[in-house]
Amino acid sequence: MPKPLNIAIIGHQFMGRAHSNGWKQAEKFFDLNATPILKVACGRNENELAKFANNWGWEEISTDWENVIIRDDIDIIDIATPTYLHHDMAIAAAKNGKHIFCEKPFALNLEQAESMLESAEEANITHYLNHNYRRCPAVRLAKKLIEDGKLGKLYHWRSTYQQDWLANPEAPMRWQLQHEYAGGGPHIDLGSHCIDLARYLIGEISSIFCIKPKFVNERPSDDSNKEEVTVDDASLMAVEFKNGAVGSFECTRYASGRKNRNQFEINGSRGSVVFDLERMNELEYFSSSDTQEEQGFRKILATDPAHEYAGNWWPPGHIIGYEHTFAHAAADFLNAIAHKEPIHPNFSDGVECMRILEKGSQSNAECKKISL
Ligand SMILES: NC(=O)c1ccc[n+]([C@@H]2O[C@H](COP(=O)([O-])OP(=O)(O)OC[C@H]3O[C@@H](n4cnc5c(N)ncnc54)[C@H](O)[C@@H]3O)[C@@H](O)[C@H]2O)c1
Repeated sequence: MPKPLNIAIIGHQFMGRAHSNGWKQAEKFFDLNATPILKVACGRNENELAKFANNWGWEEISTDWENVIIRDDIDIIDIATPTYLHHDMAIAAAKNGKHIFCEKPFALNLEQAESMLESAEEANITHYLNHNYRRCPAVRLAKKLIEDGKLGKLYHWRSTYQQDWLANPEAPMRWQLQHEYAGGGPHIDLGSHCIDLARYLIGEISSIFCIKPKFVNERPSDDSNKEEVTVDDASLMAVEFKNGAVGSFECTRYASGRKNRNQFEINGSRGSVVFDLERMNELEYFSSSDTQEEQGFRKILATDPAHEYAGNWWPPGHIIGYEHTFAHAAADFLNAIAHKEPIHPNFSDGVECMRILEKGSQSNAECKKISL
């Protein structure tokens, strides 16, 4: 019998909804050795929280996350709050022996990240950091092709993460634009996803050069005044990997018309792959092993039972979406707890990612290439 595990989620908006759906779908579509119980939903606004809990089937609500974390009947703390809260919540959860499912970016800075990892390791809990794009079937296929040597020696990583919700200079102030709450702009928010994918697919980074421009200094706040934007507006990074490959990253919220375009291309001596989240079921693959007359990029629809995760959903060709990556993460996390096995990305990956992003910020400040 799968063991029931009681979850307390903190945060009930965008990620609160995505995670709630993930827990529920994981149970319906995957073989689990632990059963997720949606026990307590935490937030600040009791009315909103009650509506959220009712909609998703959370048994209880609380506006006091510190009290929930110390409860003996809670097994998992799901952190779906703004970044500045991740540190204190994760440390408290680890100290109370709870397994942790934490949103990205991991922390405000490397120092926080290191203490979160230390607490989690000391407590011997299962810790997961939700860079969910690792769990797209097409990304898993890219990983497999690389591991099978189908791309040969890796030369290039080229990634962009483009959104456009700040292209209008009158778009209002939000916590994501304030350093004390977000820890940075797209450099850390979108850049952490891209660095995680690059580390997963290519390997460790050995040096970085970065520029972080600022386009709009002030934005309208709730009280009809203007408030200072204290984070970067874009991030451009050029990196060297330890295995000799080189990479580029461009992350922005000012790419008019681009809603959530998380895209990468990898070129190797024997082939290339291209992934675009906006067409997330597909992987483009070029193989130089094809005959000269047949060579060209082919589009693989990663919805076959042979593709990781895909067989748990629908017959081939019946595509999946963004929310499924959360179900994949929830399923893998629950099984990792049940089998007492590590899951990636985890807090250790979070520390490495924060280290790279901080070196990027240092490179921007000092206007020079920085080694890791
Ligand atoms: N993996 C992804 O694809 C993805 C996408 C978007 C956001 N995120 C990350 O998820 C996290 C949350 O982002 P979001 O977009 O859901 O934010 P949001 O602003 O939509 O929601 C934040 C939630 O946190 C709650 N909260 C804030 N302060 C609190 C407190 N003191 N106590 C209890 N609850 C509190 C709010 O009530 C709200 O429910 C961020 O770290 C963000 O970077 C990840």
